[in-house]
Amino acid sequence: MNHPLRNLIRNKELMTSLANTYGTPTYVYDYLRLKHNLNALDKSLSQHFNKYHICYAVKSNSNPHLLKNMLSIIPNLGTDCSSPGEIFVSEKAGINTKHSIYTGNYESTKDLSFALDKQCYINLDDISSFNRLKQIGLPDRISFRLNPGFGKGSFSGITTGGKNAKFGIPAEKIISAYKKAKNAGIAHFGLQCMTGSGNLDDNYFVEVMSAIMYHAKKIESELNINFQFISMGGGFGIPYYGHESTLNYNSLFKKLSKIFYDAFSDKKNAPALWIEPGKSIIGDAGFILTSVVGLKKSYKNFIGLDAGMETLMRPALYGAFHQIFKVGDHGKNSGTFDFTGPICENTDRVAVNREFPSVKEGDLIAILDAGAYGYSMSHNFNTRPRSSEILLNGNSHQLIRRRETINDIFSGCDV
Ligand SMILES: Cc1ncc(COP(=O)(O)O)c(C=O)c1O
Repeated sequence: MNHPLRNLIRNKELMTSLANTYGTPTYVYDYLRLKHNLNALDKSLSQHFNKYHICYAVKSNSNPHLLKNMLSIIPNLGTDCSSPGEIFVSEKAGINTKHSIYTGNYESTKDLSFALDKQCYINLDDISSFNRLKQIGLPDRISFRLNPGFGKGSFSGITTGGKNAKFGIPAEKIISAYKKAKNAGIAHFGLQCMTGSGNLDDNYFVEVMSAIMYHAKKIESELNINFQFISMGGGFGIPYYGHESTLNYNSLFKKLSKIFYDAFSDKKNAPALWIEPGKSIIGDAGFILTSVVGLKKSYKNFIGLDAGMETLMRPALYGAFHQIFKVGDHGKNSGTFDFTGPICENTDRVAVNREFPSVKEGDLIAILDAGAYGYSMSHNFNTRPRSSEILLNGNSHQLIRRRETINDIFSGCDV
């Protein structure tokens, strides 16, 4: 499948002008792709669900300019936040945090107070979290995160449900969690479940939705409560590999709405469906523009970039695959290379054993699908300042985060 930003990367004149203006490495986001992703999701949900709500997962990319743009496309957009910082940036971008959900895990009372003050929906990861919340005051609505006993993600590191997952309340304890909350006087409830990231298989989402509905109905009937919303989390994958296909939202949400509304025969009074997408909104809308710094023929052939694991952590963290192209004409493959960066760790790989055309120092390279869990996971290892971020809209571009300086890194150290 041709990548949606493939033609942009072929535009050597524009890419060279971005590199000359902002330097490399830099994250580049395409506004038009972001808009397309949000509208496609919203349109499809509106066709299959009477009531729904999108909470963008801020962890995937927390740039406030991007959040602001998302809000202008979906005016009632909420956010899925997992820290006070993510709530803070949502508010900074103009998002009404009453529309947001806070899902912590091992949240401190300080974290919970912050989320309560900002009137987020509080989604708790455990009964012990409820006990901590009780110490500071209970809201009138609450949800718990269900771990249905299974999960699936593109790597074990992003599988968030199942026996090995640190997240959520096991199925056999979920009723007692709600019972405790009800007995404490809480009157309004939601249910949340997020079992993994990067899924491209409709059947998996069908399995998850069926499990959520099974437990939702059981909780409702045993405790005589009605859920206001059911959140199935995020996890909608994108085709990182060229041979993979995108999810077809229309067929997916059609199947999911059938399972959803079969469980709630009174369609009008059924809860709202909430989703918390991150990767599917911003993942393929962002890429890293990086320069070839050095070439080395050792036991392996290396292409050294100015973007390593400090700029893009996913390959080193999970063995994640990102398509890489030469800017302009890609040309024909001439050998097998490892792409690495300037970091003093042998895990510093952006790609391994990759067939690629020959390159020379100074050539521009684009690492695709870096919009989600790219900048937000970048770090300062080796005391390297983090890159800049640029928003592109047609031929116009805007710096949305300046490149960090070495001084910025030490701004908190008063020596
Ligand atoms: C609770 C929760 N919601 C939403 C997401 C977003 O997932 P994705 O980026 O795969 O859509 C995550 C990711 O881990 C999550 O833990």
